[in-house]
Amino acid sequence: MSLAGKQVVIIGGGSGIGREVARRAAAAGASVHLGGRTPEKLAAAAGEIGGTWQVVDTTDQDSLAAFFGALDRVDHLFTPGASYTVGPLRELSDSDAASPFVTKFWGQYHAVKHVVPKLAPDASIVLVSGAASVRPPGAAPAYVACNAAVEGLGRGLAVELAPIRVNVVAPGTIDGDLWAARPAAVREASFGQYSRDTLLHRVGKESEVADAVLYLFGSTYTTGSTLYPDGGYALR
Ligand SMILES: NC(=O)c1ccc[n+]([C@@H]2O[C@H](COP(=O)([O-])OP(=O)(O)OC[C@H]3O[C@@H](n4cnc5c(N)ncnc54)[C@H](OP(=O)(O)O)[C@@H]3O)[C@@H](O)[C@H]2O)c1
Repeated sequence: MSLAGKQVVIIGGGSGIGREVARRAAAAGASVHLGGRTPEKLAAAAGEIGGTWQVVDTTDQDSLAAFFGALDRVDHLFTPGASYTVGPLRELSDSDAASPFVTKFWGQYHAVKHVVPKLAPDASIVLVSGAASVRPPGAAPAYVACNAAVEGLGRGLAVELAPIRVNVVAPGTIDGDLWAARPAAVREASFGQYSRDTLLHRVGKESEVADAVLYLFGSTYTTGSTLYPDGGYALR
């Protein structure tokens, strides 16, 4: 798919899945603009692909207004930017339990709110949930509910914003920057459990999620859908 002449914006593009989507979009000819909270990460990622960047925090609407206010036009928006705490109802503080909703649900909601005036008439948006939405991997009810809420948000926005297309990508467990930042024992236990539980008996790669996102950018008759690059996890 060619993205020549298109402006792709990725909030959370300085690492992980967002960075991989940035690489793919740039390779397909897009101009890529990255957002996130850490200048060094954004400068490194943008430098690698010849893109541009600006600091933004999706939990701060003034920051989102400044970020999108500096852009002329957006053809495709991808919003993997989120950081949160996951855990059981019995153990998490109320603020940790709310953190997925604060950054992953409301962060994406407000990013869409602020991008709307800049969207091209045939633009698309890809939100991020997670396969935990349909198959909870363990005791993490607020995180599970947040992912399900993001999928509902995608359907609701698809109706309101049509003909702008809005879709959701729901990854399974992905071997990449997010898990590399967690303790090795936690990572290995989670990867082992996921590999036993999923149809393809392995965790995923960031590039495999990027494949799904690029597909949703280009699939001009797909809107309101959720795509699960999860190795079949949801079925077992
Ligand atoms: N990796 C997996 O196994 C997996 C599975 C299911 C779902 N997901 C979802 O995929 C998304 C991306 O995850 P990832 O694996 O790519 O992890 P990641 O490497 O941690 O990427 C998250 C990015 O978002 C940025 N970010 C965090 N909070 C932000 C905020 N408030 N405003 C703007 N940017 C923010 C981070 O940079 P700064 O800290 O510098 O801002 C970082 O670059 C997340 O929503 C995650 O829940 C991942």
